[in-house]
Amino acid sequence: MPAIVLVGAQWGDEGKGKATDLLGDQVDYVVKFNGGNNAGHTVVIPTPNGPEKYALHLLPSGILTPGVVPVIGNGVVIDPEVLFAELDGLDARGVDTSNLIVSSNAHLIATYNRTIDKVVERFLGSRRIGTTGRGIGPTYADKMNRIGIRVQDLFDEKILFQKVEGALDQKNHLLVKVYNRRAIPTEAVVEELLGYVDRLRPLVADTALLLEQAMGDGKIVLLEGGQATLLDVDHGTYPFVTSSNATAGGACTGAGIAPMRIERVIAVVKAYVSRVGEGPFPTELLDEDGERLRLNGHEFGTTTGRPRRCGWYDAVIARYAARINGVTDFVLTKLDVLTGWEQIPVCVAYDVGGVRHDEMPMTQTDFHHARPVLEYFPGWDEDISGARSFDDLPPQAQGYVRALEKMSGAPFSAIGVGPGRDEIIQLRPLVG
Ligand code: IMP
Repeated sequence: MPAIVLVGAQWGDEGKGKATDLLGDQVDYVVKFNGGNNAGHTVVIPTPNGPEKYALHLLPSGILTPGVVPVIGNGVVIDPEVLFAELDGLDARGVDTSNLIVSSNAHLIATYNRTIDKVVERFLGSRRIGTTGRGIGPTYADKMNRIGIRVQDLFDEKILFQKVEGALDQKNHLLVKVYNRRAIPTEAVVEELLGYVDRLRPLVADTALLLEQAMGDGKIVLLEGGQATLLDVDHGTYPFVTSSNATAGGACTGAGIAPMRIERVIAVVKAYVSRVGEGPFPTELLDEDGERLRLNGHEFGTTTGRPRRCGWYDAVIARYAARINGVTDFVLTKLDVLTGWEQIPVCVAYDVGGVRHDEMPMTQTDFHHARPVLEYFPGWDEDISGARSFDDLPPQAQGYVRALEKMSGAPFSAIGVGPGRDEIIQLRPLVG
């Protein structure tokens, strides 16, 4: 049976939860394949005392769907403190988390990586990336530098000590001599990591093997990308990106799944665009329209609480996401946020120094200078949150959606019309 990939099409926070909910009980495994606790999704959990909101950062969303096996793949970086805090938080609310499986090849975020993330950002000043400060970049850097600590290293104390010592050998020089911080003793880091061994051991498996066997047995695997296309370290707006592959290709390496297994690539795209952190953003609105999108769309970071930068829908980005990911289905989210505008601008192309670009410019210099070529579509005033079929939408909203679909390079299979789980128009099934 197939694997389905789910990614964000823009700079993250597209509302992937909507698509996961739609897929929910139709899949058997949900695999997080990249990123770490830099992501954030708010989930509402039914409890005996009524619904409770809970913010998840590291755990795959499948953890909340009974019967689904949630998997943390090898491409993820794990902060063990956060992992167990999230598990404890869910356990306390009566959510069964005992199904969770963690790859033995996933890398661990050690204390020193969090420290380095923060001091480097401070040191960069105006050149900072605006990271989440969770140690994500430094941990992936260690992985590529071949000085990372993997989950499996916890099971060999001698190796663990050697590896931490090796990593700190370089880092302590940097911390002390460049960043004016205190050196971090190897023993303290090793002791902290060993403190997680007993809890971690029963969760750990060769997840690539397990997933292959599961698909062989007819199970459906959902590979869920953290962050989004334009935050991908290769295909995003480098250097203002995260440090992993958040696009569909990353699903193969980050989960250990062969490309031919993937039958469907679903990208979630918001009816406008938002971004957190620094970096270019052609349709960004610094005026009251931007403020209105932020307030109407509740665009404040789940992980950091930062206000998100907001702008109009950018069809160049959507087309790029369709191409890079091989998107078979878009899920359009937050259409309701656009209710009440007399007309809604959409970026259909870029103007770079007088030259029109219908595709993403080749260089970041051009992308930094890209000015949106806007087309205007009539808005609507009606509350659309009750719409459950396309025909329920006011004609202007239908026109807006049809126009976006035409310019975005793949069919729209679902449209989110409100924050609630059922506030969605499903146009075609996402599985099968
Ligand atoms: P890092 O992933 O913490 O290294 O941050 C790198 C960039 O990615 C920063 O601009 C972050 O704001 C952004 N970023 C990381 N994770 C997310 C996410 O889940 N949603 C949106 N932006 C993110």
